[in-house]
Amino acid sequence: MAAIRLVAHSPAEPGWRDRLKVHLLGLGPDSRVNRFFAWVSDAQVERYAATAAPEIVIDALEDGAVIGVAEVYRRPDMAGAAEIALSVDEGHRHAGIGQALVDRALDEGRRRGFADLFFFFRKSNRAMQRIADHAGMEPVASGDPGIAEVHARLRGQVDRLALVAPGRVIAL
Ligand SMILES: CC(C)(COP(=O)(O)OP(=O)(O)OC[C@H]1O[C@@H](n2cnc3c(N)ncnc32)[C@H](O)[C@@H]1OP(=O)(O)O)[C@@H](O)C(=O)NCCC(=O)NCCS
Repeated sequence: MAAIRLVAHSPAEPGWRDRLKVHLLGLGPDSRVNRFFAWVSDAQVERYAATAAPEIVIDALEDGAVIGVAEVYRRPDMAGAAEIALSVDEGHRHAGIGQALVDRALDEGRRRGFADLFFFFRKSNRAMQRIADHAGMEPVASGDPGIAEVHARLRGQVDRLALVAPGRVIAL
């Protein structure tokens, strides 16, 4: 198998929208529902790839093809907050690519000054729950019984090791 590279860039990267389109069109029905929270047709996927406006993109690339992507969107409803959308090609699952993309998205979000990062996923999406748990993200009430929302604080993080000093809190 060719080496897989993670590359962070803006959506203005030449050719990216076409590579994103090919990747998203390759997602089967269940994956599309997990990714978009509803069934989406090929035409809708194509429109999405042509118009998506994430602030940061992290591609997992193999031989120049996008085999996974984390799109980081600024949240219009919350200052300094961003939201991640994630997808990995069905032929490349269970290889740690989704986790690596989220870990890199958290790093990039922190580096670019976001204070909070969220993602949403269907409660039946066990892979996303594992990824959120491994990334140390905490649950938030999404308000939708079928949708999980998780959150990571990127700025002003509490130092958890300091909190467990014997018998007292030594840093907040
Ligand atoms: C969610 C998704 C990105 C995971 O990608 P991936 O590259 O297979 O994930 P990883 O290989 O990093 O696996 C992460 C964890 O999930 C687990 N996992 C992966 N697929 C799983 C599945 N179908 N059921 C249960 N656990 C699963 C892995 O074992 C791993 O956990 P572990 O480290 O404790 O063993 C991929 O399934 C996908 O693209 N789904 C469709 C789109 C989507 O759901 N997007 C999320 C909402 S925007």
